[in-house]
Amino acid sequence: MKKKAHNRTNTTEHKIDAGSSGTHGKLSRRELLKMAGVGGIGLLLGGTSVGGLLSATSRESSATNSLPSSAEDKISFYGTHQSGITTPAQNFVCFGAFDFTTTSIEDVRKLFQAWTKAAAAMSAGQMIGDVNDNLNMPPSDTGEAVGLSTSRLTITFGAGPALFDNRFGLASKRPAAFPDLPKFVADDIQPQWSGGDLGVQVCADDLQVAFHALRNLTRIARGTAVLRWTQDGFQRSSQADPSGSTPRNLMGFKDGTGNPDTNDKQKMNEVVWVQPGNGASWMDGGSYMVVRRIRMRIEVWDRSTLQDQEVTFGRYRTTGAPLGGKDEFEPLDLEKRDAAGELVIPATAHSRLAHMDGKVQILRRAFSYSSGLDAKTGQIDAGLFFICYQQDLRTQFIPMQKKLAATDKLNEYIVHVGSATFACFPGAREGGYIGETLL
Ligand code: HEM
Repeated sequence: MKKKAHNRTNTTEHKIDAGSSGTHGKLSRRELLKMAGVGGIGLLLGGTSVGGLLSATSRESSATNSLPSSAEDKISFYGTHQSGITTPAQNFVCFGAFDFTTTSIEDVRKLFQAWTKAAAAMSAGQMIGDVNDNLNMPPSDTGEAVGLSTSRLTITFGAGPALFDNRFGLASKRPAAFPDLPKFVADDIQPQWSGGDLGVQVCADDLQVAFHALRNLTRIARGTAVLRWTQDGFQRSSQADPSGSTPRNLMGFKDGTGNPDTNDKQKMNEVVWVQPGNGASWMDGGSYMVVRRIRMRIEVWDRSTLQDQEVTFGRYRTTGAPLGGKDEFEPLDLEKRDAAGELVIPATAHSRLAHMDGKVQILRRAFSYSSGLDAKTGQIDAGLFFICYQQDLRTQFIPMQKKLAATDKLNEYIVHVGSATFACFPGAREGGYIGETLL
């Protein structure tokens, strides 16, 4: 069977952008700097002409040892849908959940406008802000991405359930498709990796580029929102696997094989993107994100036999093929029995249960994480930073996770320790801002 190229292709939703724009105004840079002011969100919103000109300074052109960005490494921030959802997964994620420190809806709007401007600039390989070479001012861009390629940076924004509490008068706007998650059997959810008024998924093929973006968004939010928790994640890099085959998780198995094809527009409209008529119209073209920090009991897994590992997933470790099959991408044969009459893919196998009889799908966009040692137990704190997207939590993630929590054999080796959900807005149009349809 032909291998599905699902990792390094580009979807049509977000055109790769060749544009590296230098300054293109009539005023000199120094004159413009004199005109610009400094100060959090105001800095990014103030004076379109000034901001527009100077924030267009490309990071590459202002670097002394610049690495030219190739056209392929820029993914436009603007579009019908937000980037970073059906975009082929990058090497790294830096995830940040924020809480508001304001109760003013006007502050929220200003933050979304400022974040949009900064995210669009960074995705285009430009420095953010107006003040980046004035010796008497703190630079508006922290500078650690200067000279680096854009690295397919994407920044995806979502609203947490708490945005719809009484603070902002948005309670009536909460979509029915976005309920609180129930407590699943065996959950051990810890507050330090859970919740948030806003979720920001930053992905890039370079960790420093991703960190830079989250750090600068955090600076811009000062006075309006603060970080609540963060998590970095990784997968094998494109340098280590230029063929772009399915990445392996930290249990050594190919992870992502059964994902729906992100190049299939119709499928994405059925599984991922909220459609007109699905409920809250401000979410049309958006998607609901679930984030679960799932710790792996690595030490226990490493002592289990290969056979035990393979029946846990219902797939072969080396090839990723379903048990009883040969090819990674062949369909799961859920009826097949061995000579003794036993199901070849056991009833408790993760693939079988998550397949949901082929009737329910989600788009998984998970990364591995490794966060040092658990000081209490001396064990490695590593696992899967599970992220998935869907149209409706009620009919997709919730029934699927209920089923997995109840009987998945994988539960012997994992524990869910963090949980958050975010309503990811539709994409912003140029000149608009993320969350505009809600506010
Ligand atoms: C540490 C936790 C997890 C690990 C290590 C893991 C690993 C895997 C692996 C190796 C596969 C088979 C290859 C593939 O199709 O990608 C798989 C399939 C799948 N997993 Fe997970 N998974 C985890 C948690 C979850 C969770 C929480 C969900 C959703 C609630 C989920 C949903 C799925 C789905 C939908 C499939 C594809 C099933 C199909 O073939 O239709 N997984 N997972």
